[in-house]
Amino acid sequence: MSFNPLKEKGIPVEKQVRNWHQIVGKPYNKTDVDCYTRTRQILMNGIEIEAWGFKHQLNRFVPDTKDKQLIALISRIEDSQQTTANWMGPADQSVLETTLGYEQVAVDLTAWMAQNEPDPYVKETFDFGLLEDFDHLYRYSQFAYMTEGIEPNDIVQGKTDVIVGRPTQHHHNDNGLRIRKHYDKNTAHPQTKVNILTLLSGEQQTHNYYAEHGFMYGDHVLRETYAEIKDVEEEHVTMYESLIDPTESMWEKFLIHEFTEVCNYYTCMEDEPDDRIKKIWELFVDIELGHLQAAASLFCKYEKRDPEEVIGSEIVIPCRFKSQKAYVQKVLEKEVDKRLESQGEFTTIKALPEDWPSYDVQMKQNEISSPSENAVRLAGTYHDRDIVAADEQLKDKEVAILKKGLQKDGVAWNTVTPEELEKMIKKHEKREDEKEKLI
Ligand SMILES: [Fe+2]
Ligand SMILES: [Fe+2]
Ligand SMILES: [Fe+2]
Ligand SMILES: [Fe+2]
Repeated sequence: MSFNPLKEKGIPVEKQVRNWHQIVGKPYNKTDVDCYTRTRQILMNGIEIEAWGFKHQLNRFVPDTKDKQLIALISRIEDSQQTTANWMGPADQSVLETTLGYEQVAVDLTAWMAQNEPDPYVKETFDFGLLEDFDHLYRYSQFAYMTEGIEPNDIVQGKTDVIVGRPTQHHHNDNGLRIRKHYDKNTAHPQTKVNILTLLSGEQQTHNYYAEHGFMYGDHVLRETYAEIKDVEEEHVTMYESLIDPTESMWEKFLIHEFTEVCNYYTCMEDEPDDRIKKIWELFVDIELGHLQAAASLFCKYEKRDPEEVIGSEIVIPCRFKSQKAYVQKVLEKEVDKRLESQGEFTTIKALPEDWPSYDVQMKQNEISSPSENAVRLAGTYHDRDIVAADEQLKDKEVAILKKGLQKDGVAWNTVTPEELEKMIKKHEKREDEKEKLI
């Protein structure tokens, strides 16, 4: 790749104000949108929210009036881009449908990054988080079916498997364990910096989406499930942000933020099959190049260093959305029993000490019951078995995956055990046979 974003001028910041028709475009059609157009749209909304929020934090520390005005203008542009990206989502796409989109983003984005991450420790952390969002997709899919009659493939379009992962009830941890080891800003590859900030932005917005929408359903178990998974996304934000070197300065972070936006829009532009939306990504690459120029000049002014020291001299690819089934399945079978250990280490269920700090959190939070287990229990009542959408050979392994992923301690009383799941599956198969006879 020979595209050096620092050498491109893009659109100057003062020329980036757009009219309302340009800001609020036509939404996509939820019935014929490519699922990865939707994931790009969801992710870029998250990236813009982070870009906007970060700039407001930064500006509270900037005394120079001219610099403050420039940063304020850029925040406003980020905000207008956020509107464009988020409002591509149509009014008739339900909260649960959008939720499945959010978890598809998390699964396929994390899987892509894990395979394109130069730092092995960061990769291991991505693989760990991957299996949690993978299970969220499964839990929400139970409600999508029960509440709105939606099949998971209506949203994920057969590109992402929907089946049990590391059970959500086991995602609740002592916060100290979520703090991971951070990269070294002087030696980390720009791909690592961009990967982490991209994923962090996505997780943060996933948290915010659940926080702002989970209450919109009347079903109490679904409301509790949103609350439960929202809390895990909060843990994910903590986990991924802890990978960032805390000694990066605010100007350095500004530079990384703009570079991250350039790289993400550049990837979206390359991959987008919808011509109308592709034009928006193209425009946004040019807008972000303008922001990057501004960030680079402020970085030079205050830090007297070369921006290339921080972000290198070429674009990186953080968000190539494509089906990651084979990779996810490999990690699932191998690492579903992985758990967090102190000092940023990982361990497995078998090696957990009796006083593992997360047991206390799990027992407190799930003392009445685990909502995400009720989700599967209820689906069993509605449908004989859980709602899954996966390749047949993976479906055959579901009970074994649950067996491996379930802890012996800190388990909610209402847990669907592997034995119960097996019974549900058999009951469903029997009913399917009976149905065929009737036909
Ligand atoms: Fe932006
Ligand atoms: Fe998630
Ligand atoms: Fe997540
Ligand atoms: Fe920007």
